[in-house]
Amino acid sequence: MFSVLSRVSLACAIATLAAGTAGAATVTFNKDVLPIFQNRCQSCHRPGEVAPMSLVAYESARPWAKAIKAAVVARKMPPWFADEGSRHFTNDQKLSDAEIRTITAWVDGGALEGDRKDAPPPRHFEDGWNLKPDMVVEMPNSFHLPAKATIEYQFMLVKVNFPEDVWISAAEMRPGDARVVHHGEVWVRPPGSKWMADAIPGKAYSQSQMRKEAEDSEVIGKYNPGLGAQNFVIGDSAKFIPKGSDLIFELHYTTMGKETDDRTKVGFVFAKGEHKTRYAMSYGPQGRNLVIAPGDPNAEVISELTMAQEARLVYVQPHMHVRGKDYELRLYYPTGEVQTVIKGPFDFNWQLGYDLAEPLVLPKGTRLVGISHFDNSPNNPNNPDATQKVKWGPQNWDEMSNCFMGFVFDSKYKPQELSFYSGPSLLPADAPGPTMSALKVPGKK
Ligand code: HEC
Repeated sequence: MFSVLSRVSLACAIATLAAGTAGAATVTFNKDVLPIFQNRCQSCHRPGEVAPMSLVAYESARPWAKAIKAAVVARKMPPWFADEGSRHFTNDQKLSDAEIRTITAWVDGGALEGDRKDAPPPRHFEDGWNLKPDMVVEMPNSFHLPAKATIEYQFMLVKVNFPEDVWISAAEMRPGDARVVHHGEVWVRPPGSKWMADAIPGKAYSQSQMRKEAEDSEVIGKYNPGLGAQNFVIGDSAKFIPKGSDLIFELHYTTMGKETDDRTKVGFVFAKGEHKTRYAMSYGPQGRNLVIAPGDPNAEVISELTMAQEARLVYVQPHMHVRGKDYELRLYYPTGEVQTVIKGPFDFNWQLGYDLAEPLVLPKGTRLVGISHFDNSPNNPNNPDATQKVKWGPQNWDEMSNCFMGFVFDSKYKPQELSFYSGPSLLPADAPGPTMSALKVPGKK
């Protein structure tokens, strides 16, 4: 069915080409398509970045015309998983219907280059960085990747020992070799933390060698393909790094058929002025009790967190593993009002984050409910083993139901003081919780 379709569109393209290209309505690469690629595609599709081909120049884009049409019509590209009903996000990557029509018309019209004079000036990307860092911290040693292997998450302690308290307005994590860094995080480990206390600085430890005890630590920089820099300024907010902190690099590598070495780094921009409010990243509702039955195509897991102080929610990033299917974050306000923050399919390959266009004020007592579904059936192509009972755990073959959150709040509070687990999230490990229909939440829809 698919090949018939593409043959038909190819036939159309040839017919259009043969019919000549006169007329002002002709859609060309330089005039119509390149501006869209600059805005929506080049963050990933440019030389040295993660995507398989560059969409910077006509010559490199042209051979991909048919695949481009297929990918944008199916909304596979750019990757974006917030459906209708979600809040509005400033980093919304979705193409508009008009943009899809333009790309389709370009491909169907023979993928013409047009006049180079019509091309917009090239989009400028900062020498790799998307910000101008005041400080760069690089992994002291590189990590060696074989040509082919499954590599556990790696953790490397970097002794920075920040000499004073620092406020950070923006950060960016940059892979050394973007072809093998699937995603990663840089954590701030405050002084006194037990996490990796015995680790040799600069040595990479796999997850099974080194327990992840990140409860007192905070993500300061993260990397996903195309993510760029993260800005922490909302009003007067910034991120806080306490004096004496060190950094922990967490990396998820995938091999690429050739040996290589990676030395990832993080760049910081220092914030100026006073900061009555603080931006911090924390875990959202977590389904640590989850149990997914073998073969279950649609296991539902509910988790819950309650606000202990008022805070503004500015960022959400659902997190599940390979059986993750979809995720919704719903708010139950003390007034009884109910609101969806994000709802959409989940794809493990894209651990995307979403910046709220309008921060949501969450009064004390607001419940944040995570609703996730998992496909543990053999029909899930990413499922490593449909006969397994799956529990919470850090490895990809375990599962998680989590949602990282960015909060802006009064800087007199610590991030851990903002919220507490409640409802099903208080159940012990391996105790399956209620489904949504059985959950008691005051003011539930
Ligand atoms: C967030 C990064 C990112 C953005 C933005 C992005 N892509 Fe991609 N694209 C990728 C990656 C990575 C791959 C390869 C892996 C995959 O196919 O999932 C890919 C694959 C593709 C493919 C499939 C290539 C093949 O092997 O068949 C096409 C076509 C494509 N992208 C077109 C686009 C277009 C057109 C845009 C903009 C409208 C875009 N992409 C935006 C990262 C991105």
